[in-house]
Amino acid sequence: MDRIKIIGGEKLYGTIPIAGAKNAALPLMIASLLTPETLILENVPRLSDVRMLKRILGNHGVDVMVAGKRPGESAEDGEVVRLQAAHIVDTVSPYELVSQMRASFWVLAPLVARMREAKVSLPGGCAIGTRPVDLLLMAMEKLGCKIEIDSGYVLASAPDGLKGAEIDFPKVTVGGTHTALMGAVLARGKTVIKNAACEPEVTDLAHCLVKMGAKISGIGTPTLEIIGVEHLHGATHRVLPDRIEAGTYACAVAMTGGDVLLDGVTPDLLQSALDKLKASGTEVIPEGNGIRIRREGGKILPVNITTEVFPGFPTDLQAQFMALMTRADGVSTIIETIFENRFMHVSELARFGAKIRLDGDAAIIEGRETLKGAPVMATDLRASVSLVIAALAAEGETMINRVYHLDRGFEGLETKLQRCGAKVERIRG
Ligand code: UD1
Repeated sequence: MDRIKIIGGEKLYGTIPIAGAKNAALPLMIASLLTPETLILENVPRLSDVRMLKRILGNHGVDVMVAGKRPGESAEDGEVVRLQAAHIVDTVSPYELVSQMRASFWVLAPLVARMREAKVSLPGGCAIGTRPVDLLLMAMEKLGCKIEIDSGYVLASAPDGLKGAEIDFPKVTVGGTHTALMGAVLARGKTVIKNAACEPEVTDLAHCLVKMGAKISGIGTPTLEIIGVEHLHGATHRVLPDRIEAGTYACAVAMTGGDVLLDGVTPDLLQSALDKLKASGTEVIPEGNGIRIRREGGKILPVNITTEVFPGFPTDLQAQFMALMTRADGVSTIIETIFENRFMHVSELARFGAKIRLDGDAAIIEGRETLKGAPVMATDLRASVSLVIAALAAEGETMINRVYHLDRGFEGLETKLQRCGAKVERIRG
């Protein structure tokens, strides 16, 4: 298993190109199941989750072709992915595949919308508390789908096709909104989705579906109206930039000090996080097609954060900000409202000497000037990268084990950091 070694203490200077968003690329790739024509996605990130989803879609019969390669890149990677589901040959998504990545459960809606049936294993993915799928199934049932659970599988069928309906989510859910959208676009009649997620990745999916011929209004608002169509067609769509990757590197620069241009991302995608960074004493300057992050000297100021749905502070940046706050000049509080139990990074951050106390859904962080490098273990995707941020500023050497979590969500992490002067090395094995 690969490990990452970091010698802390270097400031970061340079430019970091921001990749396409993982959380948009995955549902967009899944949307290819909705049409027999070709969906061309550009700016697709090179990530293990994307590779895994190509395999899952391939199993269903989707023809996946990759272009836009860098020199020396493997056959699987490239930033342009062409997906054609001319013939869906299998409507079963087995446990071995779905358990690796929660988002693959989202194949359920397009499979039923197009093939009128699907058998999909209940999901796995990052271990961040209980992550139920009741609301995804509720959305499918509203659309007229019959759902049974048997031996760890969801058996879904709609012999007469899906029917438009009103779907009112009691809680904002990204996966639930993706599911409802992908079901509704091919359903008969009108669907209204209330309390829909407004995350930019949901909006990106909706825009792509419109290019494919879907009729959706209210995009970007909590109320989406969809008039079902009989067929969708092919389209070309560019995946939006990864706001979480951008926010992560912004935290890294705030942590070490330095001056880095995050290239290819706009501030509106992560304004709430940028506001918190500014409050921590970091300069945030929109520049051309990117955002410059600068902190030269001065202390890191403590800030209080509560995770919220978009446009509030994203839960996927909570661990990274906690790492930053471990070196703040004072006490900060971070309240996690989206997921229970999303504090696995706390015990690992403590190994650097960080002082963090948990109280229900709150973490109270007493900042200190120096952290010390330590052997640590990556636990989930975003938690892992918080350890990288701590290590970059810690004295001495840190060895991060189980880095496959990082490879799921961060394209070329060590290369991007090395180019900005960090002492980061991947140890294969
Ligand atoms: C997506 C993102 C993830 C992000 C999260 C919240 C992807 C691949 N993943 O995950 O990175 O952290 O949005 O922005 O895009 N819930 C239920 N029942 C359900 C579904 C969800 O109770 O059927 C709850 C969840 O437990 C959680 C909350 O709703 O407490 C939000 O989850 P949701 O928005 O659905 O997250 P994901 O789509 O899984």
